[in-house]
Amino acid sequence: MGPAGQALERSAGAAPRALRAAAGLAASAAIVMAVHASEPGPDGSADPGARADALVRTMTLDEKIHLLHGTLGFAYEGRPAPAGAHGGAGFVAALPRLGIPALQLNDGPLGVRNIDGGPEGRATAMPSSQALAASFDPGLAFESGRIMGREARDRGFNVLLAGGANVERDAWNGRNFEYLGEDPVLAGRIVTAQLRGIQSQGVVSTVKHLVANSQETDRGFVDMAADERSLREIDLLPFEIAVKESGVGSVMCAYNKVNGVYACENARLLNTLKAEWGFKGWVMSDWGATHSTAQAANAGLDQEFWEERYFAGALKAAVEKGEVSAARIDDMVRRILRSLAAVGALDRDEPVRLVDAAAGLAVAQRVAENGIVLLENRNALLPLSADRLRTIAVIGRRADIGVLSGGGSSRVDAIGGVTLDDTPPGTDPDLAMFASTGWHHSSPLQAIRGIAPSAKVEFDPGEDVKAAARLAASADVAIVFAWQTRTEGEDLRSLSLPAGQDELIRKVASVLTPWAHEVGAVLEAWYPGNRGAEAIASILFGRINPSGRLPVSFPRAEADLPRPRPPEPRADASNPKTAPAHSPVVTLGEGLAVGYRWYDSQKKLPAYEFGYGLSYTTFAYSKLTVNRDLSVEFDLANTGKLSGTEVAQLYLEFPAQAGEPAKRLAGWARVELAPGERRRVRISADPYALRAWDTSTGEWRRPAGRYRMHVGASSRILPLAQEIDVRDVQPD
Ligand code: BGC
Repeated sequence: MGPAGQALERSAGAAPRALRAAAGLAASAAIVMAVHASEPGPDGSADPGARADALVRTMTLDEKIHLLHGTLGFAYEGRPAPAGAHGGAGFVAALPRLGIPALQLNDGPLGVRNIDGGPEGRATAMPSSQALAASFDPGLAFESGRIMGREARDRGFNVLLAGGANVERDAWNGRNFEYLGEDPVLAGRIVTAQLRGIQSQGVVSTVKHLVANSQETDRGFVDMAADERSLREIDLLPFEIAVKESGVGSVMCAYNKVNGVYACENARLLNTLKAEWGFKGWVMSDWGATHSTAQAANAGLDQEFWEERYFAGALKAAVEKGEVSAARIDDMVRRILRSLAAVGALDRDEPVRLVDAAAGLAVAQRVAENGIVLLENRNALLPLSADRLRTIAVIGRRADIGVLSGGGSSRVDAIGGVTLDDTPPGTDPDLAMFASTGWHHSSPLQAIRGIAPSAKVEFDPGEDVKAAARLAASADVAIVFAWQTRTEGEDLRSLSLPAGQDELIRKVASVLTPWAHEVGAVLEAWYPGNRGAEAIASILFGRINPSGRLPVSFPRAEADLPRPRPPEPRADASNPKTAPAHSPVVTLGEGLAVGYRWYDSQKKLPAYEFGYGLSYTTFAYSKLTVNRDLSVEFDLANTGKLSGTEVAQLYLEFPAQAGEPAKRLAGWARVELAPGERRRVRISADPYALRAWDTSTGEWRRPAGRYRMHVGASSRILPLAQEIDVRDVQPD
């Protein structure tokens, strides 16, 4: 359906919905009053819980059950799209009698997905979540969330399945680009800001996938085994921060089992979320991740997606048999309605429209500019001079057209379009976004031509290594755009670059540098999104001084990883129905030692460490003081010749008896300094970094003893350190 059709359909009703419902009811005055009482005040201040309660009181059991399961919002396997659906990943039809709008859900987390594929459904393709995390910039995460929320709303969606918060335990994971790196506090703070930004636009957001969904192989049935303390301190922590700090309206439970029980029927897990953290929103299952009716409902699952096997008729029957209480059903419904009311989505009645592309692209470019990481810059090769270069070779697959995107449900149909490669013949079009390599239309070749108009810029796709090397030899500088696809539903089988690119880069480098087999400069651009090429060109030519820092450690070799080999699949991982009787168990044996904590504990050197990234200027750290509240102050100076932004980082070491890995990120500050400028910088330790889980009491503690605070430019470049004694405290 085109936008005009959608607008027509949606304008059929008149706002406000609750009033309309009440007027249309052959209902008692008491109901009308109850619904009236739940109307928002003129300042929008009505208590969303009270509004939800008022509605729940007026609902029949069938109406309640109706809200507790949803289907796909698009045509699939011969079934037409449900009437009124806007083509999103999920849909629950409206309840007009009650003025409850349809739930229109869509992915997330890198922008608004366009499943039906019409050009009017295009939206801003944000850079990967790794790039966002690499910015270390919650303010920018809010901005990018704000754009995604606005665009979701413009496209007629009121729930965005955004907020990928699984901690990267494993470089193999096909979905790492949807997540925010290996540090739980960084991931938690960035996702919190992003969720707030999304919800500021009147759209409910979702944080996913709870929890330990750190591999795609066998994801529908694999059993992730982890000890309580590691789950609390690592995997659950970003979710805890998001739930407590962002007001996120929904949580998606994961496909996998956690310690023997499917996440979506895991009472222990879901109780932690609701009873302990005070989560007031609803838990929805990942698509096809519900495995039972009474067990799941009683464990805390509130809504089933997408097969409607367990929470439709079967749930009603379970209520009638007394297996699930009426009170629990009310709780499930209340949670959904409350979250919708809290962001204003219960009252929404506006036309579907095209997104504001210019606003989205500007923010996408800023995220890429702040998230791209300069890894190497030998002899200050970068920034390039647009005036001095006469010939530039641009080499690499599709570098004339676009930048790479990850695959799967998070792939956004970018503004400008997407080109798909590698789709195996006969692939179901619905699955092409999982099976193919996709390129957002943001052309490196065009961007470089634009920024260096007097140079002759020539392109070679890099398929024929000799031809590429010849072009490189004839140029003043060669820029190779290397790529590596990741996709949902599949883990990497090798961490090396695919399609002979190592050889390509080596050959190109050897004709151009006196130090054969090494290149002059390396930029990690992640999947840089809808304006990725423009951001890369701005950095290459020095319009932007790079300030991104790695949110993940890069290993020197696969053998250095906690799991040196990729997971071996048991069955078709993309099909949860093929679950074997006994789930394969993956033990997260590294425990707390995730990412940089792993390298520290193994005394191994990564190729590039967490927190690392170069700038075109240099910074110096001095004069550290540590305060009693574990905040730190220090002098930071720009000792180079260009303005630049440093991400100054605070790490803390717990007292040895706490049994923690060597150090953890406790805070950071993005500081912009002019050449020669010096500033006193203060970083407070994040309260969530100041806790250790005490397994014997089942509580958080800040163990007494001698803490060591480190300050510097990465998890390994830590020029300042000081110790301080801390008394044993139980954090709030
Ligand atoms: C993914 C979720 C996604 C859902 C709906 C699932 O396959 O795991 O992240 O939100 O599909 O598209």
